[in-house]
Amino acid sequence: MMDWRTKLLDPTPHARRDYASLATPVYRGSTVLFDDQKAVTDDWRQADNGYSYGLYGTPTALELAARIAGIEDARETFIVPGGQAAIALIYLSYCPAGSHALVPYSAYGPNKAMAEGLMRGLNVEVESYDPLIGAGISDLIRDNTTLIWCESPGSVTMEIQDVPAIVKAAHAREVSVALDNTYAAGVMFDAFAQGVDVSMQALTKFVGGHSDLLLGSVSARDDVAYAKLGPIYQQLGLAVSPDDCSLALRGLQTLAVRLDALEKATLQVARWLAEQSLVDTVLHPALNTCPGHEIWSRDFSGSTSVFSFIFSETVTAEQVVEFINALTIFKIGMSWGGVNSLAVVYPELERPGVDFGGRIVRLNIGLENPDDLVNDLRQSLGSI
Ligand SMILES: Cc1ncc(COP(=O)(O)O)c(C=O)c1O
Repeated sequence: MMDWRTKLLDPTPHARRDYASLATPVYRGSTVLFDDQKAVTDDWRQADNGYSYGLYGTPTALELAARIAGIEDARETFIVPGGQAAIALIYLSYCPAGSHALVPYSAYGPNKAMAEGLMRGLNVEVESYDPLIGAGISDLIRDNTTLIWCESPGSVTMEIQDVPAIVKAAHAREVSVALDNTYAAGVMFDAFAQGVDVSMQALTKFVGGHSDLLLGSVSARDDVAYAKLGPIYQQLGLAVSPDDCSLALRGLQTLAVRLDALEKATLQVARWLAEQSLVDTVLHPALNTCPGHEIWSRDFSGSTSVFSFIFSETVTAEQVVEFINALTIFKIGMSWGGVNSLAVVYPELERPGVDFGGRIVRLNIGLENPDDLVNDLRQSLGSI
C-alpha cells in the first residue's frame, strides 16, 4: 500500500490518451522517461530517433517543426527561441574559426551586429556585400568562404536579391547559402526550389501573427544541412516554450487568409503613398520603384505587409518625426507581421554612398480597414 505522498508523485497516466482533437496538445516536460536503461539516450534527432530530452522539443514543438518543414519542403526544421537565435544557430553551425562569410549590407541590423561582434570575436570575418550584386558575388568568394547570407527583400531598404544567381555562384565554390525568408513567411519565396541550403524565419512575425510570441525556425534543405545544424542546436540549448509553439500552430491555421488580406491592404496603402507629392520613392517589392522589382516578379508568388518609403528632399528630418508622431491608427514600433499597423523612422540609416537624411520610414500594415490607414497617413502628411 503506497503512502499518499508517494501516490501524489506517481506519473503513470490515468486518463485515456485517445482524445482526438483538432488542436495540438501543449506537452510540457523536461525529463523523458525511457522503457529501460538500454534505451537511455541524449539525441537531438528526436524526429528520427524518438524523444530523449525536452530541451530538443516536446511533441508540441516537433509538430510545429514538422508542419513548417512540410510547408517549406525542408528535410527538417528546428524551432528556436526567436529569429535572432535562428541567425545565431546558422552562423555558429556554418562558420568555423578562421572562415569568411558574406552578408548583404541590407541585412537585419542585429544579424550585422552579430557578424561584427560575436563572430569577429570567434575569428570569423564577415564581409558586407551589395544586395543587388547577383552573380557578381563570385568575385567576393575566397578559399575560406563557408557561408553566404541572403535576405530578400532587405531590411528597411527592401532590395530584392537574385538568390538563384547567388546560389549558383556559391555552389560552384562549395559555399553554403543561408536565407532569411521572414518577409515571405516561408511561403511567398520557395527557398529550397531556388537552391538555398538553410532557410530561417522569425516566426515572431507572420506565423505568430499577433505580436504575442517570439520564435524562430531554421529549416535544413537536406541531410548535410541537418547534420551541420543539429549538434550546434544541441550545444546551444535553444529550448522553446510549448505554449508559444501552440500559439504558432494556431497562427499557421490563419496564415493564408491573413497574408491575402495583408497583401491587398498593403498594396492599396503603398500605391496611395506613391501618388503623394511629399513622397519621393516607395520601396515596395511589387512596385517598379523598388530595387530588384523585376526579380521579385520572377521569383516571388506575392508580397506581404512591410515596406518603406522615402520623403522628398523638401521634407526635413524634424518634419518626418512630426509626421510619425501625428499618426493615430499607426502605432510607433519596430516589429511587423501582426494585426496592428506600425510606423517607424530610421533617423540614422545609411547605406554605402547613401545618406537618407532621416527621411526613410518603414510601415507595417495590419488588418485595420485600409481606407482608415490611408486617412491616417493623409491627416498626418497634412501636419507637415
Ligand atoms: C528580417 C528579420 N529577421 C530576423 C528578425 C529577428 O526576429 P526575432 O525578433 O524573433 O529575434 C527580425 C526581427 O525584426 C527581422 O526583421
